[in-house]
Amino acid sequence: MSVFESHSAEQTEKFAEEFAACLKGGEVLAFFGGLGVGKTAFVKGLAKGLSITSNVSSPTFTLMNEYEGRLPLIHFDMYRISCLDDLYSTGFFDFLGNENVIAAEWSENIQSFLPDDCIRIEISHGRNDNDRIIKINENSCG
Ligand SMILES: Nc1ncnc2c1ncn2[C@@H]1O[C@H](COP(=O)(O)OP(=O)(O)OP(=O)(O)O)[C@@H](O)[C@H]1O
Ligand SMILES: [Mg+2]
Repeated sequence: MSVFESHSAEQTEKFAEEFAACLKGGEVLAFFGGLGVGKTAFVKGLAKGLSITSNVSSPTFTLMNEYEGRLPLIHFDMYRISCLDDLYSTGFFDFLGNENVIAAEWSENIQSFLPDDCIRIEISHGRNDNDRIIKINENSCG
């Protein structure tokens, strides 16, 4: 488990941008953490780190956004997903494997369907308003 303490959205993005360097493709990044904690901010940084130039926005309504970069980034919002059928209909399983980097916000909702080797990224609030604790499980990036 590695832990990073961020004190601003910019720091979170920067951390995620650097984290992206270790991705080889095929990873599932499972994000945990409540409303507005910074999951999308992290994915924005990730996209930058994967040399994605288009603007990353939350897939709140589309459920999934796809970006082309050094590796394809598939960004899911699982907020409204509550069962396996829902998850199938997002196309989640079609994107597993090959080169894709999958980033799934609200992974709380798909816990039992996540691959065993997924990288868990848990973001929580710290002491001050803009403080966030980012915990990444040890499967990630050696
Ligand atoms: N250290 C920090 N890291 C990330 N975001 C921060 C931080 N401090 C403040 N923020 C603010 O918190 C908000 C995070 O929003 P963001 O959309 O990334 O959260 P989210 O977890 O994706 O929310 P949702 O649950 O709606 O998907 C932004 O307004 C951002 O500016
Ligand atoms: Mg979000």
